[in-house]
Amino acid sequence: MSIATLISGASQLLTLRGHGRRRGAALGNVGLVKNGAVLIADGLIVSVGPRVQVEAHPLARSAQRLNAAGRVVLPGFVDPHTHLIHAASRAEEYELRIMGASYEEIAKRGGGILNSVNKLRAVTSDALKQRAHADLKRFAAYGTTTIEAKSGYGLDLVSELKILKLHKELSTEQPLDIVSTFLGAHVIPAELRTRPSGVNDYVSLLINKLLPEIATQKLAEFCDVFCERGAFNLAQSKQILEAGKRHALRPRIHSEQLSRTGGTQLAVKLGAASCDHLEKINRADIRALAKSKTVATLLPGCDFHLGLKQYAPARDLIDAGAILALATDYNPGTSPTVSMPMILSLACTQLRMTPAEAITAATFNAAYSLGRDKQIGSLEVGKLADISIFDVDDYREIPYYFGMNTCHTTIKRGQIVYSKSSLSAT
Ligand code: NIG
Ligand code: FE
Repeated sequence: MSIATLISGASQLLTLRGHGRRRGAALGNVGLVKNGAVLIADGLIVSVGPRVQVEAHPLARSAQRLNAAGRVVLPGFVDPHTHLIHAASRAEEYELRIMGASYEEIAKRGGGILNSVNKLRAVTSDALKQRAHADLKRFAAYGTTTIEAKSGYGLDLVSELKILKLHKELSTEQPLDIVSTFLGAHVIPAELRTRPSGVNDYVSLLINKLLPEIATQKLAEFCDVFCERGAFNLAQSKQILEAGKRHALRPRIHSEQLSRTGGTQLAVKLGAASCDHLEKINRADIRALAKSKTVATLLPGCDFHLGLKQYAPARDLIDAGAILALATDYNPGTSPTVSMPMILSLACTQLRMTPAEAITAATFNAAYSLGRDKQIGSLEVGKLADISIFDVDDYREIPYYFGMNTCHTTIKRGQIVYSKSSLSAT
């Protein structure tokens, strides 16, 4: 057994301990321990709680000590919705939108997702990998220790496989965990749009060619669909998600973002792990989510970046009892940020979530949406030592400060993967 590590001296230790996914009032319970400590051995948490109790553990005496020096210690963020692999920014579209064009108008003119598809197909896998490595370092620098990553800027067999293989390779080449999702159903690729049967041909390609190949090569755990006007309708979404299920890929969905399509209730019926966006959901959708185990993942970074005024009804979802999570939706079109703290700031000011609710949504519930709540998302014995340390006195200051990075140290499986400055030993 390698030498243990003992972290103590935090002003606040947020354990997020508790039973299962958090709904309603439970979302606001961050399991705060004063004068707490965490003991780590072999990448796992072996003791956590009040300092005196943790120091009594047999491994504590010989442990290497890290002093959090009055900072706040909490689980590493879990970001359950990103489009990690893309070739370039779309700053040109950002400017067009500011001058008055809408996201959908730009997409209709062949921009939007198709713009990113062209850019991705034109570059090598190595170039994509280099960009992703730099981005993953940035995720870690903002306190994130696990991300979900979607394909969807390839839209043909070769290019989608290129993305999904990168998810796998990157998982072994750098410390953060990457949970892979197949989003071949992002939009219909340009080369099929001119044919009258283009949409059906593409759905068949996804179902008969890409999904079986991806399942055989074990390149994804989840299958996602962009259920939206201009992308895939309800019937097509159903076909694709059901086909994914036959290959043991659990459904996730982008639903009710720009218009109400009914995708949320469809996904709930299919037992989806998560429904994401939800700006345009109605009462019945909220009730369906509240009665289900499907997570409502909100992405306020999109509305902020697109300059849209209508955020998802987070309070109604919480009051109804839905399981809420938060994600960056890191992507070049609608949410170019890797910063979960920024998402927490938006969750507080725009979604009216409390800082505690936002933190639970960005850790435990996010882990649950990825089927990882037994391993990550809280600081409890037996879980991975995935920890972030923020340079603030009070956890409410994590969302309170915005547009600045207060993350001081990020620890993945017990190893420091990011640090602003070294932590002293006493
Ligand atoms: O989650 N809505 C679909 N997918 C992304 C946008 C992708 C893009 O514009 O490139 C999203 O917002
Ligand atoms: Fe997305």
